[in-house]
Amino acid sequence: MTASQSPAERAAELRRRIDDANYRYHVLDEPDIPDVDYDRMLRELQELETAHPDLATPDSPTQRVGAMPSSKFAEVVHKVPMLSLGNAFSDEEVHEFVRRIGERLERKAPVFSAEPKMDGLAISLRYEDGVLVQGATRGDGSTGEDVTANLRTVKAIPLRLRGAGIGKGGNRTASAIPDSPFPIPKVLEVRGEVYMPRAGFEKYNEQARLHGGKVLANPRNGAAGSLRQLDPRITAQRPLAFYAYGLGEVRGGELPDTHSAILAQLKAWGLPVSDLVQKVTGADGLLDYYRRIGARRDSLPFDIDGVVYKLDDLAGQREMGFVARAPRWAIAHKFPAQEQTTTVEAIGIQIGRTGAATPVARLAPVHVAGVMVTNATLHNADQIARLDVRVGDTVIVRRAGDVIPEVVSVVLERRPPGTEPWQMPARCPVCGAEIVREEGEAAWRCSGELSCPAQRKEALFHFASRRAMDIDGLGEKFIEALVDGGMVHSVADLYRLGLDQLLWLRMVLNAGTRADLLAEAHDHLPADAYAALLRRVDVLPAGPAEDMAWRVALLREGVPPFAWNPKKIATKWAENLVEAIERSRDTTLERFLYALGIEQVGESTAKALAAWFGDLELIRHMPWPLFKRVPDIGGEVARAIGHFFDQPGNQRAVDELLGRGGVRIGDTHAPSARLRGELGLAALLADLEIPKVTRIRADQLAAAFPSAQAIAGEQPDRFVAAGLPEEAARSLAAWLEDDDHRGLLVRAGEALQTLLQRLPEADAAASGPLEGQTVVLTGTLSSLTREQAGERLQALGAKVAGSVSKKTAFVVAGEAAGSKLEKALALGVEVWDEARLLQYLESHR
Ligand code: IVH
Repeated sequence: MTASQSPAERAAELRRRIDDANYRYHVLDEPDIPDVDYDRMLRELQELETAHPDLATPDSPTQRVGAMPSSKFAEVVHKVPMLSLGNAFSDEEVHEFVRRIGERLERKAPVFSAEPKMDGLAISLRYEDGVLVQGATRGDGSTGEDVTANLRTVKAIPLRLRGAGIGKGGNRTASAIPDSPFPIPKVLEVRGEVYMPRAGFEKYNEQARLHGGKVLANPRNGAAGSLRQLDPRITAQRPLAFYAYGLGEVRGGELPDTHSAILAQLKAWGLPVSDLVQKVTGADGLLDYYRRIGARRDSLPFDIDGVVYKLDDLAGQREMGFVARAPRWAIAHKFPAQEQTTTVEAIGIQIGRTGAATPVARLAPVHVAGVMVTNATLHNADQIARLDVRVGDTVIVRRAGDVIPEVVSVVLERRPPGTEPWQMPARCPVCGAEIVREEGEAAWRCSGELSCPAQRKEALFHFASRRAMDIDGLGEKFIEALVDGGMVHSVADLYRLGLDQLLWLRMVLNAGTRADLLAEAHDHLPADAYAALLRRVDVLPAGPAEDMAWRVALLREGVPPFAWNPKKIATKWAENLVEAIERSRDTTLERFLYALGIEQVGESTAKALAAWFGDLELIRHMPWPLFKRVPDIGGEVARAIGHFFDQPGNQRAVDELLGRGGVRIGDTHAPSARLRGELGLAALLADLEIPKVTRIRADQLAAAFPSAQAIAGEQPDRFVAAGLPEEAARSLAAWLEDDDHRGLLVRAGEALQTLLQRLPEADAAASGPLEGQTVVLTGTLSSLTREQAGERLQALGAKVAGSVSKKTAFVVAGEAAGSKLEKALALGVEVWDEARLLQYLESHR
């Protein structure tokens, strides 16, 4: 608040800025301020309104979740009924629709507004003098339910229209906004669709699955269910959005005379209108629109079940009129349904790269939204139990966007007699190892690790992928055959593949029948080898041409001695593949670590590990707590890395890659000097996650003992002597009684010392004085923008983060800094003001 501003003025300014930010975000889709600034303004406004209750207005952005839960919804009678639409399912029906209009209005090529048909819930919003006073569902079209309190929580719905008179109480004046010749009518009912964006829906369900909550069947049900909540606080937590597509009652004002101009006007008043809306001409224009939107359907951020065509000019609409409850001037052109029913033929499980066992329903093939679906995920065993899917059941499957088809629900009325609940098999169907579930985890896993061919295939595929070892030309099918044919057992085996093996593999895979294979092999094999092959082929298991069994059996017998006849076989692809494999031998630590497929280690973590530790030998023998010294690596990730290297099989795989595999990591370097500030006994002790041993206790221990190893052999009284409270001392002693814990502490202590010895002398110059430090900027700076300040700090090596943690090196706090400053103070993180920042930047030019 500037000195000259009264609280009322400040509140008005904040409201204007918040409304503006909402408009940019939801209507223009051009957000211009970060979420944190938005939150800060909202908080300031809230505080002002609490301090001056007379300043609060019902249309204030603080008043979205205001109302108390109700016991039921009141009825709302729609003055202008909410109609439905006739449907078209074919091009012919669209031609017929356009022909009828053309004839009646005597027009050759009528103009239409073509729009997406959002798959959500129709609602009506009533604005009086530009202020939202009521929101209702469609109900039966004549009477709906009053869901105002719930709709107010949907941020995309403006509580006050842009350009509505600003001021309190009844003195609002209907007013024009600069770019619009139309004043806001006294009464304006806006019709549109509330929907749940796909990303929000997926995220919501993921959380629900994780916490055993109720999952939403689809975004449409999600939207409908959310609006039907009696407690608006629940609705407020649901990811809902809104698009306007028409009008209901309008009184006391005029509006444009075409539908498209009305939508543009609604948008100018702050109501979101889909960007996909377009003006098109004639049946060809409509069908072209249908195809263009159809092609984008899967990649849209929300579900649509078709498109809607509306005659654009209102005079024409009036002339066309209505039949029953649908207009003659509009029609919905439907897309193929995203949900279908089919039956479950079997339930199998799929084993992922890290062993996760995902149940998959094998379905009687069914077309869903233009794609043949034969498998659908059941997510996890809990989900199956919740849905109670059984073999033989009729189920609803859904395929939307890029997500994997999933089973939505069971049609219980159609369940055949004698079915039984499904159970997770005790053993992996691929390798026979036990399937286990770690405590507290939703996922079941095959414990076979890399001895499981399914995990091996996934691991190989990941290993070879572009961002890992980048072996171009090694596709999924090929890897599958290499593993099944026994030619590749571990990643290192890839480096033994030669031309003969690749050519033979492809010949066996591509041959239509065994006879075809023999005919082709004849051209390339010496006589005695051919004779041997003839004998082998004869004893292979029989099976249809497409059967893999005989191919796999043959591959397992090894590669015959070839003398390739280059005139009769293409070899270029195989030479390229061999070369790609050869090229991948020279790699970087970052790629290598990523390629190993360690759980939780994506590219960015691999990069951080490589940058901070520099050396695979160090990393592969490091106890897990030390990984937590790298910013952004938390306990879970650190444990996963440690766990990976604890497996002898994984260590063997690494040895093999570097040994006979011939992989060379070219960028090994000493650990980063930045570690110096991160390493220490206290940090190590805190990282071990020993109950009751907080950072303060760890500091006390580090001050009293020379090393981790020294602590391992001590008694509780010595910990008390070091200053620990009784309880913490006992907890530490109890923890140390476990041999594994003691061993970990000793190993971690030794690793810490090794690491410290190997740190280079601090060479700040090479990397910038703030290298490895995370800083946070908050509040408004006067002499430069936050972005500029961030760039200059980054140039000095700093990482600029959005939130404050105890690892933050310092926080730069400008004018009106809020919660981040508070958090920094609470955590004891250093705080710089603008003057100090400028001085620092100046001295490090
Ligand atoms: S116009 C008089 N436009 O489809 C026309 N409806 O079957 C009334 N819908 O209940 C509707 N997107 O829920 C219209 N762009 C759109 C739409 C749309 C979705 C829904 C709406 C309505 C149903 C009509």
